[in-house]
Amino acid sequence: MTKKTVRAGIIGSGFAAQFHLDALQRVSVALISVVGVYSRNPQNSENFASKNDLTPFYSLEELINSCDVLHVCTSPVSHEEIAIQVLKKDKDVIIEKPLTGYFGSGENFNGDTFPRKTGLDYAVASVNRMLEAENSSKGMIMYAENWIYAPAIQKEREVIEKTNAQILWIQAQQGHSGSHSLDYGKWKFSGGGSLMGKGCHPLSAAIYLKGVEGKVLDGKPIRPKKVSCQTHSITRLPDFKNQGHLKDSYTDVEDYASLHLVFEDGSIADIVASELVHGGVKNYLEVHANNHRTICNLTPNNAMQTYNPVDTNFKDIYVSEKLGTKEGWSNISPDESWFNGYQHELDAFYKCHISRISAESNSLLAADVIVTIYSAYLSASFKGKEVSIDL
Ligand SMILES: NC(=O)c1ccc[n+]([C@@H]2O[C@H](COP(=O)([O-])OP(=O)(O)OC[C@H]3O[C@@H](n4cnc5c(N)ncnc54)[C@H](O)[C@@H]3O)[C@@H](O)[C@H]2O)c1
Repeated sequence: MTKKTVRAGIIGSGFAAQFHLDALQRVSVALISVVGVYSRNPQNSENFASKNDLTPFYSLEELINSCDVLHVCTSPVSHEEIAIQVLKKDKDVIIEKPLTGYFGSGENFNGDTFPRKTGLDYAVASVNRMLEAENSSKGMIMYAENWIYAPAIQKEREVIEKTNAQILWIQAQQGHSGSHSLDYGKWKFSGGGSLMGKGCHPLSAAIYLKGVEGKVLDGKPIRPKKVSCQTHSITRLPDFKNQGHLKDSYTDVEDYASLHLVFEDGSIADIVASELVHGGVKNYLEVHANNHRTICNLTPNNAMQTYNPVDTNFKDIYVSEKLGTKEGWSNISPDESWFNGYQHELDAFYKCHISRISAESNSLLAADVIVTIYSAYLSASFKGKEVSIDL
């Protein structure tokens, strides 16, 4: 059968834009024609376009008009506006995590001090505007949460479905030594700190897997109900001594969060997110069920391990994301994007685009994640008091 050609457009020209473009080369369900790139800063668009042999666009509207599917790879503060613009044109939109949030307003906005109830109310309103835009569009939102499509998480989905497993407790974590993005760490661009930027990954996967369990049980997901959370800003402590291995550029966001989630059925998840982890990205999720236990090691894992006595010997070799040094033993990744699920995610999204079915990682999952995160921030402002999640 001849494959359909689908026209894709990239919005943003940073880290996520690059891995989207790379993963697009590995989509097999359709022939992808990457029409071009649009970014806030025209010079960045041009640099990205010339590096990747693409056409730079100077108008977002023109890019949208020329494409069937748009990839929103921009800072979280811009997701709502861009996504609504795409949906109004009846096009499908792939939105990088997190879906949206609260980014404050005014010159004197400070992420440390604003009332968390205000943040929750604004985030919920933003989510609702996006859901309404999707409901009135022929296009759909696909929530680019790669953890959902990571092979280890999808294998666990199969285990849950085929054994009728009841998940009792999930432990999961994302941590590393700090983001490269200049917008990260400033609430007005990122909508929060570690919980928002990192915690959304394991949280999404935990909510997804409980959703899978619920659908097997009686056709509907088991959703989050109550949350308690504590956040801390360790690299902003007056006595923190930075020896140059961890980023400490966070102006008004946390760099550590611990979230305890209770689902509708009383089962629980414990999620940790932080910028305090040496040795590369730690992405793991552990399921304790009534009939099995699974540990999903997205990164690092020991699919391949290498000992390298001299750092510079590996100067042209990619080892793994955010690794501090290439010297000594490393869990060198033979295909990091595969373990992260980037190409599986885009293959699934283009399949949904062609067949017009909702993605496993859709706007409803993304909405549950955002409302849980901002309810968690409210809890953290009460030093961890339990807060109901009203969806
Ligand atoms: N799934 C993952 O593993 C993963 C990893 C990193 C980042 N992300 C997500 O990807 C998104 C982008 O993060 P990043 O690390 O690429 O950041 P980045 O700072 O490297 O790039 C952001 C890009 O967006 C552009 N931009 C910002 N506002 C814009 C606007 N209004 N219109 C057009 N372009 C605009 C910037 O110019 C820049 O090119 C964020 O939502 C982030 O959470 C996901």
